[in-house]
Amino acid sequence: MNAFLESLPKIELHLHIEGTLEPELMFELARRNDVTLPFDSVEQVRQAYEFEDLQSFLNLYYQGMNVLYTEQDFFDLTAAYLKRCHDNAVMHTELFFDPQAHLARGVSISTQVAGITRALDEAEATYGITSGLILSFLRDMSEEHALETYEAALPYREHFIGVGLDSAEVGNPPEKFERVFERARSDGFHVVVHAGEEGPAEYIKGALEVLKAERIDHGIRSLEDPELAKTLVERRIPLTVCPLSNVYLKTVPDMSAHPLPALIEHGLCVTLHSDDPAYFGGYMNANFLAVQAAFDLSRDTWRTLSLNAVEAAFVSDMRRDALR
Ligand code: HPA
Ligand code: ZN
Repeated sequence: MNAFLESLPKIELHLHIEGTLEPELMFELARRNDVTLPFDSVEQVRQAYEFEDLQSFLNLYYQGMNVLYTEQDFFDLTAAYLKRCHDNAVMHTELFFDPQAHLARGVSISTQVAGITRALDEAEATYGITSGLILSFLRDMSEEHALETYEAALPYREHFIGVGLDSAEVGNPPEKFERVFERARSDGFHVVVHAGEEGPAEYIKGALEVLKAERIDHGIRSLEDPELAKTLVERRIPLTVCPLSNVYLKTVPDMSAHPLPALIEHGLCVTLHSDDPAYFGGYMNANFLAVQAAFDLSRDTWRTLSLNAVEAAFVSDMRRDALR
């Protein structure tokens, strides 16, 4: 069964490119850019990856990405992730980047986008992996800052397919970003929103009704509101679930307590992804194997999860047929 899962063609729909920064590359880029890291070794970095909650992870995640400065840095980061995609039988990936986190260090959106898209184009030519880039706003910053960032990104609009919302959830409900999401939607961008990871089901409702999210990232608290769950089922709104992330951030006590089987049983359009694989114990295959170890899902269920991801991807009809 593990060999079947490892070779199963996959689609990644919930992945933060900055969350693929492995400690080895972190050190290499720190040397290259003369950045002093608060760690002495790769082992020490890995030992620091003990998280209590989302915020304790975000603190290390933002610190780690401080080594990214040049177009080449963003290329190297993305190329390393795409090699992992190839090794994990990922055929298509839709990845987030956090432009505001890099603008804060004086790195332009042009530099970020150029490095990331050069690697994406190369992976399509080399591996046949297709992709889409999603600009994610940091919900713990103001909507004004999100709007300014959106304006700064518009000259590069042909390089991204949608907008997302991530970072510290509790206390930063979706409604805070109504204007910028309305703007992006009217400009023709896809809309996805992190909701119901640590935050309540109410935030999923806000993401859906106010921001008009086409997919909910995480959404593992959906079943806490039966009316909402019914709507999600009826409207076939995908939930991009990240099992290892939820365990590492203690959103669930352990994998056996994960609501994944209940979400599937409920008829929700669930898909599985890796979120921040350098920080959460592994890439797509690691997530699939951890789920299988905990729940012993049938091949039919895996087939359903795969088809859900084909349905949830933002691709052309032709590419969707090829992915099926
Ligand atoms: N949740 C919210 N924001 C994030 C995450 C996450 O898991 N990873 C990177 N930014
Ligand atoms: Zn995420």
